[in-house]
Amino acid sequence: MERETALNFVKPQLTEHRYEHTLGVMETAISLAKKYGGHEKKAEIAAIFHDYAKFRPKEEMKQIIIEQNFPQDLLDFNAELWHAPVGAYLTKKEAGITDEEILNAIRYHTSGRPGMTLLEKIVYLADYIEPGRQFPGVEEVRQMAAENLDQALIKAVQNTIMFLMKKNQQVYPETFHTYNDLIRQWKDGLNG
Ligand SMILES: [Fe+2]
Ligand SMILES: [Fe+2]
Repeated sequence: MERETALNFVKPQLTEHRYEHTLGVMETAISLAKKYGGHEKKAEIAAIFHDYAKFRPKEEMKQIIIEQNFPQDLLDFNAELWHAPVGAYLTKKEAGITDEEILNAIRYHTSGRPGMTLLEKIVYLADYIEPGRQFPGVEEVRQMAAENLDQALIKAVQNTIMFLMKKNQQVYPETFHTYNDLIRQWKDGLNG
């Protein structure tokens, strides 16, 4: 799908602010793909659609999670997590995008997962560091992303977990599993 077509597809689904964020994620994902040898076109499309379901009614998202038999434990955690798997589903259903690598990058952009692919890492990180993001710690991750994708990703996941814990919010177990997996790979890299 052409960039303009994809952008026109998602725009009516997003607020102005979220659309600007989407453009930032797109630019960042493309530049990370260039830097780290990822698929630029897939990074572009995954980034454009990553928040496609962000503003769907909670009830609709909940129905999809139940009917499509997505991990049911999602329903016990913050609804903020739901738009990622639901977004992958709706991107396929409504936009006709069937590339599983793209759909997985959308599916796991909030929780991450153990064994993330390069494209999944790129979209996760681009979502975290795009130029519109302003929160404590983001600049450090931006600088790390210019040097080492995995280390930047570890930092982003750590920050996310600690942010939730400081606010006394639940942490979805898959995010801990992602963190543990990234640390394990990093340490294996140091020892190997
Ligand atoms: Fe998102
Ligand atoms: Fe996002």
